Amino acid sequence: MISTGTEGGKREGSTYVPALGLRVLTPLYDRAVALTTRERRFRGALIAQAVTRPELDILDLGCGTGSLTIGIKRREPSTRIVGVDGDPEVLRIATRKAAAAEVLLAFDCALAHELPYAGASFDRVVSSLFFHHLTWQSKQQAAAEAYRVLRPGGELHVADWGRPSGPTMRALFLIVQALDGVATTRDNVAGRLPELFVAAGFEQVVQEGHVDTSLGTIALYRARRPE
Ligand SMILES: C[S@@+](CC[C@H](N)C(=O)[O-])C[C@H]1O[C@@H](n2cnc3c(N)ncnc32)[C@H](O)[C@@H]1O
Repeated sequence: MISTGTEGGKREGSTYVPALGLRVLTPLYDRAVALTTRERRFRGALIAQAVTRPELDILDLGCGTGSLTIGIKRREPSTRIVGVDGDPEVLRIATRKAAAAEVLLAFDCALAHELPYAGASFDRVVSSLFFHHLTWQSKQQAAAEAYRVLRPGGELHVADWGRPSGPTMRALFLIVQALDGVATTRDNVAGRLPELFVAAGFEQVVQEGHVDTSLGTIALYRARRPE
């Protein structure tokens, strides 16, 4: 099910970056991620750190084609999970995948700086490969929204491009920067996401680990909204 909270999901003049940089590449997104990111490893690690008990209310921020959303629901069917993304096209793919996987999921079309949820609605906000699509200012707005929709004591869990583990990882990341742009990716590669989360009010901000891939280093972060 897709509900379009924000018409079309995009804004005139914004730095909106589609799933694979260029809209025409969106249908190839899942294949590209599977081939280049050691997807099972990083998604598995993110799910393991985020889904620590049954019956959680979870938001998948920038859910794209729904791979993480579906993975969480399959791993822990008692979760109530919603995926949100600004691109109705990518959400149509997510909806088809959820139906094929026989999992009942809700997907909402909305932008990360104005999430259509009441404050303190979720126990977890999870997000994979999303923050590097945003400028620093948009990252700040998205982090503030994640904080707002989390319950006190709730947690943000993020897997995204982070500080490279070495020069080879830095060089490989140039491919991502060519596709998705330097303006939105440079904060990631500078390792600034923890600083972003602290500035938004989160506590206990830690990098849990990283996964080296053929496109660079994916970092796994955890942050907590204070009680
Ligand atoms: C690289 S994809 C990641 C998708 C998915 N989370 C995954 O792990 O495969 C980034 C997603 O962010 C979405 N996106 C980009 N800017 C956004 C914004 N401002 N608000 C909501 N979604 C946005 C894009 O539509 C795209 O689906």
